[in-house]
Amino acid sequence: MAPNPSTQVGTATLTYGDKSATLPVLAGTLGTDCVDVRKIQGDLNVFTFDPSYGATASCESAITYIDGDEGVLLHRGYPIDQLAEKSTFLEVAHLLLFGELPTAPQLEKFTSGVMRHTMLHEQIRRFWDGFRRDAHPMAMLCSVVGAMSAFYPDSINTHDERQREISAYRLIAKMPTITAWAHKYTTGQPFMYPRNDMGYAENFLYMFGAVPTEDYKPNPVLTRAMDRILILHADHEQNASTSTVRLAGSTGTNPFACIAAGIASLWGPAHGGANEAVLKMLGEIGSVKNIPSFIEQVKDKNSNVKLMGFGHRVYKNFDPRAKIMQKTCYEVLGELGIKDEPLLDLAIELEKIALNDEYFVKRKLYPNVDFYSGIILKAMGFPTSMFTPIFALARTVGWISQWKEMIEDPTNRIGRPRQIYTGAAARDYTPIDQRG
Ligand code: ACO
Repeated sequence: MAPNPSTQVGTATLTYGDKSATLPVLAGTLGTDCVDVRKIQGDLNVFTFDPSYGATASCESAITYIDGDEGVLLHRGYPIDQLAEKSTFLEVAHLLLFGELPTAPQLEKFTSGVMRHTMLHEQIRRFWDGFRRDAHPMAMLCSVVGAMSAFYPDSINTHDERQREISAYRLIAKMPTITAWAHKYTTGQPFMYPRNDMGYAENFLYMFGAVPTEDYKPNPVLTRAMDRILILHADHEQNASTSTVRLAGSTGTNPFACIAAGIASLWGPAHGGANEAVLKMLGEIGSVKNIPSFIEQVKDKNSNVKLMGFGHRVYKNFDPRAKIMQKTCYEVLGELGIKDEPLLDLAIELEKIALNDEYFVKRKLYPNVDFYSGIILKAMGFPTSMFTPIFALARTVGWISQWKEMIEDPTNRIGRPRQIYTGAAARDYTPIDQRG
């Protein structure tokens, strides 16, 4: 349960037919007030209809706050730009999971707890033998994370606080190993075992880039950039994948199954798959001279073409993460000595044109976190198919924090929406010889 549960700040009256319902209006610490409609079925015998949840708050949460009009993102109250600038991924993970930035002893304990869980059960390694070499790494992540429930039965009792904590540690710790191994399998290189003497992001870059025949120490500037990318993707309130994790978790299923469901949901191009789609789009546009005709296609409703990396359900202003991503992009390209990156030139020009075009201005479409992340990851040597898995690796901490918060909320019930039924009314079975 949130430490400061919402309070009633008023009422709203809904009248339907000859009946009225007085509904409480609830307010949290920040953000839009919410009409609590839970009683309306009993009072008025109607449901609310909000198919893509654009006007629905599905839970109380004390983890992340977004003000989409102002472009604000806070984790436990701390602005994302301060966390990205001053903090580390494991500090942010502690903040999301336990509610506070860790003290030095707490951070040491948390770091050693996470880093001691980085190995996978050796039998899990054999899962990779079953995948095709060209399988998308997100397919590998979904399956391997789901399979973890078969290997760690000692941490799947959701009623046991200690087991919940161990499963959180396991997921945060093992995701870099799973993600790096997905890449190694694709390339045919030997899997590299984790190094617990390295930092979290450093260990991931090591398992991704190293081979057993040579010493390998990840570049510190790139390690810092990777840590920042992980922070920027760590949590984002009740988005599609987090809501998927919560809905799965509301049934009481184990945390590994819930996170596998979250990974599946993240994969889509409207969500985490957008970073991969941005690079594909930039490649297809090819040159600055083709931007105007591409923009015309985007504006044509019949074309089904979207400007990937633009627009957001909640942000109607700059995604604050996109600004930090852009800065990180310059740092990474500078460190790598890349002076001329045609994709970056293309992205900057595309952004400039889109931000001045009436279509995008009217609809308040701004770059989101994915617009620049792909360019950074490409420069760091990641193939495009690894972009969404890296997002999943970072988001695992958000998913597991949201799952834990939900399980610990005594008001939690199974999630079960209703529908407007538009099918046939009741009718009798027709024998096959009488069907026309
Ligand atoms: N390109 C062109 N037009 C767009 C775009 C876009 N990227 N995004 C939204 N629009 C248009 C819609 O067609 C709609 O136009 P209309 O009013 O004429 O019908 C209008 O802007 C409003 O958009 P919605 O469809 O209401 O936006 P919604 O909240 O449903 O979708 C989404 C948000 C999925 C992010 C959408 O903007 C999109 O598809 N963007 C591209 C994919 C992307 O970058 N996803 C990453 C999101 S961030 C993340 O998951 C980390």
